[in-house]
Amino acid sequence: MENENKNTFTIIDNRTGASYTIPVQDGTIRAMDLRQIKVTPDEFGTMSYDPAFMNTASCRSAITFIDGDRGILLYRGYPIEQLAEHCSFLEVAYLILYGELPTQDQLHDFERNVTLHTLVHENVKKLMEGFRYDAHPMGMFISSVAALSTFYPEARRVRDPEQRKLDIFRLIAKVPTIAAWSYRHHLGLPYVYPDNDLPYTANFMNMLWRKVESKYVANPVLARALDILFILHADHEQNCSANTMRCVGSSEADPYVTVAAAAAALSGPLHGGANEAVLTMLAEIGSKDNVPAYIKQIKEGKGKLMGFGHRIYKNYDPRARIIKQTADAVFEVTGRNPLLDIAIELERIALEDEYFIKRKLYPNVDFYSGIIYQAMGFPTSMFTVLFAIPRTVGWLAQWQEMLEDKEQKIARPRQIYIGHSRREFVPMEKRGTPQQMAAV
Ligand code: COA
Repeated sequence: MENENKNTFTIIDNRTGASYTIPVQDGTIRAMDLRQIKVTPDEFGTMSYDPAFMNTASCRSAITFIDGDRGILLYRGYPIEQLAEHCSFLEVAYLILYGELPTQDQLHDFERNVTLHTLVHENVKKLMEGFRYDAHPMGMFISSVAALSTFYPEARRVRDPEQRKLDIFRLIAKVPTIAAWSYRHHLGLPYVYPDNDLPYTANFMNMLWRKVESKYVANPVLARALDILFILHADHEQNCSANTMRCVGSSEADPYVTVAAAAAALSGPLHGGANEAVLTMLAEIGSKDNVPAYIKQIKEGKGKLMGFGHRIYKNYDPRARIIKQTADAVFEVTGRNPLLDIAIELERIALEDEYFIKRKLYPNVDFYSGIIYQAMGFPTSMFTVLFAIPRTVGWLAQWQEMLEDKEQKIARPRQIYIGHSRREFVPMEKRGTPQQMAAV
């Protein structure tokens, strides 16, 4: 009993002198427990204010663990380094979705189920063909994934676990097809249908790069590198897009529009768009010699060093380390990307610089991934799409966990209202100038 009491906070409201005992669980207090703290019985009660969710847990989750200070990333308890070394992407997808590493039979079934659903309805193809020749592939991806919703109206039954299972297979299977077609569209090349004899990543490469050969054979080093990059990007707990997935999904919207919404969140340069921004930045720097001057500008507040810094990691992002190793294998096949030298110099100088040390700014996953993608032949506009393919797995796991969590309801934050108090309507003829109106 004594111990139980110890796991509490006593809050004294200095406005009233009243004292409140609030339970502490997992180092967390419930924001709703603050509501009882009020000066008069008829007032609303105390809220917590946390713009950008800097210190608010929005859920309990068993999927991904990050220790940002120590640079640790675990999926379902397994270190990312071990998974990247030993697993295929679909094996990791199974782990993230169902909580345990699959047996050989389970993996085989999972791969078969995903493979079965790689094709999209011919009208999705027609829809994609309707985009302008220079449409951004991420815009095409988001819209086409959302459009899948119209082909599977039964997906609205989000409370039905069997239905969810089917839609999860469909989404994981179809995102590479849509992604590859948005790339082919960009180049004016005919869309390539999936080849279900091929493993997940090799099939994706087939849909990207097959020309006139009767059977596409993926380079095994590049296929493995892509698989590793997919593993590294599969989930990252409650980031902006996962939060979007949970928020939109909490209204019980179907998973196709919900994944599209999460992908829209991913498309921003502060999230998934960062590796595109890294390459633009490296190209702008132009040569190793210009790096010190560029860093000086950043320190003067002229922009940010793209691919550096992270809301959670205040240490080297463990994914960045694995990507750096993968880069070496890729460059053996593709030849060295000249931007790599600029990136390495940038990292070296930044990591020794007081400004970056003090703020705990280290390279994140996006710092090197773009350089690899570019060496593989992807245009920068495809980078976020390449992120969205594996992250679909994480989004779906987060969505499923949210739906099964009895404590979750439709997401609906509070606000602190700072606008006008009630005022009387002013008819048009009495409005005067905008300045006079603002003063009303
Ligand atoms: N380059 C230079 N300075 C940076 C920086 C960067 N990439 N990232 C953060 N900082 C500085 C901020 O200016 C701020 O400095 P100040 O204390 O003097 O004002 C300090 O570091 C803290 O940054 P803050 O913006 O509070 O961190 P955040 O947690 O809100 O932002 C990111 C995290 C990822 C949005 C931010 O680091 C960023 O924009 N990075 C570049 C984009 C990127 O690579 N995104 C991919 C994320 S995986």
